[in-house]
Amino acid sequence: MKIYKEIVFLLQKNNYICTYQNIKINFMYTSKIKGTGYYVPENIITNEDLTKLMDTTDEWIKERTGIEQRRHATKGKDTTTNMGVRAAQMAIENAKIDKSEIDFLIFATLSPDYYFPGCGVLAQKELNLNTIGALDIRNQCSGFVYALSVADQFIKTGMYKNILVIGAEIQSPALDMTTRGRNVSVIFGDGAGAVVLSRSDNNKQGILSSHLHSEGVHAEELAMISPGVTNKWVPELIKENNPDDTSYYPYMNGQFVFKNAVVRFSEVIMEGLKTNNLTKEDINLLIPHQANLRISQFIQQKFQLTDSQVFNNIQKYGNTTAASIPIALAEAVEQGRIKENDLVVLAAFGSGFTWGSVIIRW
Ligand code: UT7
Repeated sequence: MKIYKEIVFLLQKNNYICTYQNIKINFMYTSKIKGTGYYVPENIITNEDLTKLMDTTDEWIKERTGIEQRRHATKGKDTTTNMGVRAAQMAIENAKIDKSEIDFLIFATLSPDYYFPGCGVLAQKELNLNTIGALDIRNQCSGFVYALSVADQFIKTGMYKNILVIGAEIQSPALDMTTRGRNVSVIFGDGAGAVVLSRSDNNKQGILSSHLHSEGVHAEELAMISPGVTNKWVPELIKENNPDDTSYYPYMNGQFVFKNAVVRFSEVIMEGLKTNNLTKEDINLLIPHQANLRISQFIQQKFQLTDSQVFNNIQKYGNTTAASIPIALAEAVEQGRIKENDLVVLAAFGSGFTWGSVIIRW
């Protein structure tokens, strides 16, 4: 009996999977969000401010998107990395760990500081972390959900103990701030959010499951084509210097994206609930990617959730793509909207198309 106990202890310690009489015994860890943080640039841009740049109105923007204001980065002050780092510092502080304990870093963004290298290594440098691995994720609005899912796998299998997951965006400089680009430029904003995901021995709490999907056939329905190596090469873009070339501005087929978003959000939330034998009644807080308030309201109605069961802050920040879920999560924690053992559902949909959900027992 003593030897048996020692073997089990060793298996658990080293996270081995063993098979006994064809029964697979899987000693996996659980990962738990230990700390959350966020940072948004100081510069507030109201709907009224936008009316001075393009043919739009406060009423149109509020009615179609719910957005009242968003933050725009200041050139020379804010970078995607330094905003991500500020959010990360808050998350590390809230996690009550020393930054030397972080053993991996994942950075999700569609708006990196450089074409290459990615923001992961820049954040590793700015935070002065050990020479840990740094991974960049390019999954746009579902970037944070993808990043969290990857971090979860690394922790569950025992490879890492504390992973810093950052989602940060500076999208404003790439927006077409004229009437031509108004359907896109009124929606997006800048900001950063982060979490520390840590190993836990309590298998009743933490990330229960994550669910990731993509449908590349719709890649061009929400995309920024240039600069890339398919359409026009950088020397061509420079030579042409053509202000009518919109390929270097984000393009969005808004209605098509909206229709797909409401379907995929619902599917992937249901998938997560079913996997864990849960129902919509079990949800304490749904944090949808802040794409458009009307999308969140559609999902809320479909799942018959009350206002207190859905978290929205798009009114203040607009759609901050990979940063939207970690900012919302950090604000929800700050406002006391999440209690221990609550069922928290994160769900995202966006360019790619990519979408996903993460089901968490807090
Ligand atoms: O986070 C990634 C995923 N993204 C999303 O989930 C976004 C999904 N899509 C949407 O949120 C909505 O489609 C938008 C908010 C982008 C657009 O709303 P919409 O109700 O689908 O408007 P629309 O593009 O069909 O345009 C309706 C009208 C058009 O005018 P006409 O052709 O009817 O005369 C547009 O030119 O509204 C016009 N319009 C605007 N008017 C004032 C488009 N943008 C604006 C604007 N201000 N900013």
